[in-house]
Amino acid sequence: KKIVLAYSGGLDTSAIIPWLKENYGGCDVVAFVADIGQDREDLIGVEKKALQSGASECYVVDLREAFIRDYVYPVLKTGALYEGTYLLGTSMARPIIAKAQVELALKVGADALCHGATGKGNDQVRFESTYTALAPQLKVVAPWREWDLRSREALLDYLKVRNIPTTASLEKIYSRDENAWHISTEGGVLESPANANNDDCWVWTVDPKKAPDQAEKVTVKVEKGEVVAVNGEALTPYQCLEKLNVIGARHGVGRIDIVENRLVGMKSRGCYETPGGTIMMAALRAIEQLVLDRDSFKWRQQLGLEMSYVVYDGRWFAPLRRSLQASAESLAQDVNGEVVLELYKGHVNALQKTSTNSLYSEAFATFGEDEVYDQSHAGGFIRLFSLSSRIRALNEKK
Ligand code: ARG
Ligand code: SIN
Repeated sequence: KKIVLAYSGGLDTSAIIPWLKENYGGCDVVAFVADIGQDREDLIGVEKKALQSGASECYVVDLREAFIRDYVYPVLKTGALYEGTYLLGTSMARPIIAKAQVELALKVGADALCHGATGKGNDQVRFESTYTALAPQLKVVAPWREWDLRSREALLDYLKVRNIPTTASLEKIYSRDENAWHISTEGGVLESPANANNDDCWVWTVDPKKAPDQAEKVTVKVEKGEVVAVNGEALTPYQCLEKLNVIGARHGVGRIDIVENRLVGMKSRGCYETPGGTIMMAALRAIEQLVLDRDSFKWRQQLGLEMSYVVYDGRWFAPLRRSLQASAESLAQDVNGEVVLELYKGHVNALQKTSTNSLYSEAFATFGEDEVYDQSHAGGFIRLFSLSSRIRALNEKK
C-alpha cells in the first residue's frame, strides 16, 4: 500500500508519516511538498526531513507561477472577497496543492491521499473536495480526525519516542499559512476577539504607523483583467506579485484582522497580510470604474460574491466555478489600462487611471457647458422611470 501525503515539513505532517506507517499496515508514505511561494526556509532540507521521518520518497513541485496564473488571477477577475474583506489566500491554494498531489498519486500508483488539516477547519473540505472531484477511486486519510494526539506536546513526544529529529519547539504560538499571495495568522492572543492583535501577529508588512512618511507611487498595467506590468516593467503574474508584495509591505498595505464564518459553522479570528494582492485588487477596480457600464458592474459584483463562497468552500472543480469564471473572463475583455496608485501608511489609493476601453466621456460628464447632451431629455426619462409611483400616488389621492 502507498499513501501520498501533502507534507510541509512542520510538526503535524512530520508526525503523520510514522503514524500512517504504524496505523495503515506498514504502508509506504510518499511525501509531496507543494512550492507555492512559502518562506524559502521551509523548503531547505525538506526532502531530507521527510526521509528522516520515514517517508520512502519525497517530491517537491514548483507551483508558484501556476498558482498565480491559474488560480489567483482568475479569482481576481471576479472581484471575490470573502465576507467583504478576505482575499482568499489559503482558500485558493488548497485546490492547486490537492490537484498536484492527486497527479503524483496517480504517477506513483498510490492507493490513498492524506493531509494534515484538522477536523475543525475549512482546509479539510477543500483538500478532500478536490481529491474526490479528480480521483474518486483514491482513499482519503485525515489523521487529525482519527488519532488521539491532541496537543503540540503529544506530537513532540510521539516523534521523540521514535527517534525522529525535529526542529519544532513546544512554544509555537500561532498557526500560520503562507504562500506567494498571503500569510495568515491564527491562534494565540487572537483566539479571543476581545484581545487586540500585537506586533508579533504580523510577519510580512510593517506597522502602518511606522511606515514611511513619504507616500510612494506605483504604476500598474492591466490587460484583460490581469496585471501584466509594474512600474513599466513587463513581468509574469508571479513576478508582478512578488514586486508588488515588496512595495506594499513597506507601506503596511494589505493588513486585515477579522472574525470570519468558517464553512463548518464556527467563527474564527485571523490576521491576514496580502500586500501585493491588495494593490492588484485596487488597480483592477480602478480600471473597472472606467470600462464597465452600470449593469456589467452590478453583475461583476454578483459574480464576486458568488465566487467568494465557491472558492472559500473548496468547490474549485465544480461546474459553478467554471461557469462564474467564464462570465468573469468575458467581462474582463474590456478591463485594460494603466493605474497610478499611491501607497501611504497602510492605504492604497488609485490616483490616476486611463484605459483604451474607457466609457468615461468628459464631453458628457462636464459640469461646464457641453454640446452633446440635451438636458430637456431627462424630463421624459424621469416621467417614465417613475410612472408607477405617479399612478400609485394618483390612486391614493382619490
Ligand atoms: N481561515 C482562513 C481560510 O479558511 C485561513 C486558514 C489558515 N489555514 C491554516 N492551515 N492555518 O481560508
Ligand atoms: C485547520 O483546521 O487545519 C486550519 C484551519 C482551517 O482549515 O480553517
